[in-house]
Amino acid sequence: MKAKYLILTYTLFLFLAISIFIISAHINITADEKSGDKCAECHGNSRAYKEWQVSDHAKSLKTIQETPQASSQCIKCHSADYNSYMNAVSWGNKISPPTPKTAKDPVNCSVCHRHDTGIKCNLVMAPDKLCISCHKFDCG
Ligand code: HEC
Ligand code: HEC
Ligand code: HEC
Ligand code: HEC
Repeated sequence: MKAKYLILTYTLFLFLAISIFIISAHINITADEKSGDKCAECHGNSRAYKEWQVSDHAKSLKTIQETPQASSQCIKCHSADYNSYMNAVSWGNKISPPTPKTAKDPVNCSVCHRHDTGIKCNLVMAPDKLCISCHKFDCG
């Protein structure tokens, strides 16, 4: 009888330990929103990751770095660093905006996804709002 309870307690403990491990891994992800490399640890084999790698989004930072007249104004749509900057500012940090030279990330996974949003496909906002936040449909 006693052994049975002991096994039950151990099983419960193991279950809790594993759950906490999984949950804390996910908390780390939301804290480290910038890094697309972080996503690759778990999603590196997904179709979405491979599609992104060859997409224009992946080279969006390179584009402005190769455009002589580029400025901080371009970062907003061409780099994930803009969101990190705005986050820092909203926390009261007085830092200068990223420039095409200092920015490190292109339009990466975190621009469109976060694990805890509750929106389908873990998008940061509804898809109709998401794309037009940068794509202004000002063709021609
Ligand atoms: C520690 C592993 C891990 C890391 C790191 C991770 N994810 Fe996930 N992600 C998961 C798991 C597990 C699920 C839920 C199961 C599934 O749908 O694949 C998930 C689900 C998702 C989904 C929804 C998939 C669907 O089919 O609806 C998206 C989108 C996503 N993650 C994006 C990201 C992005 C972007 C990052 C980096 C900022 C990231 N994940 C980092 C493990 C991870
Ligand atoms: C943070 C801003 C931003 C968001 C949000 C965004 N894009 Fe983009 N997108 C860009 C930029 C910048 C480029 C051009 C990159 C380059 O060529 O250097 C681009 C390029 C593209 C291209 C290639 C364009 C072409 O003429 O071939 C497609 C397709 C595209 N985006 C689709 C989408 C879709 C669909 C969404 C919503 C799910 C989306 N984008 C959301 C900034 C964004
Ligand atoms: C409001 C968001 C936004 C801003 C700000 C912005 N861009 Fe873009 N840019 C885009 C999007 C979206 C695309 C891709 C869609 C398209 O082809 O029309 C793009 C495409 C481009 C392309 C063409 C890339 C290619 O592969 O053909 C160049 C070059 C470019 N942008 C340079 C710049 C420069 C330089 C700045 C700053 C002076 C800038 N952009 C500011 C959203 C923006
Ligand atoms: C410009 C916005 C945008 C970027 C950048 C982006 N995604 Fe997505 N992602 C979407 C949208 C919209 C969907 C849902 C529609 C679809 O399935 O294509 C999606 C779907 C997904 C899914 C679930 C469906 C599937 O095909 O497996 C995963 C997982 C995912 N993305 C991971 C990533 C990862 C990892 C990155 C970075 C390497 C990334 N995404 C970059 C917009 C984006």
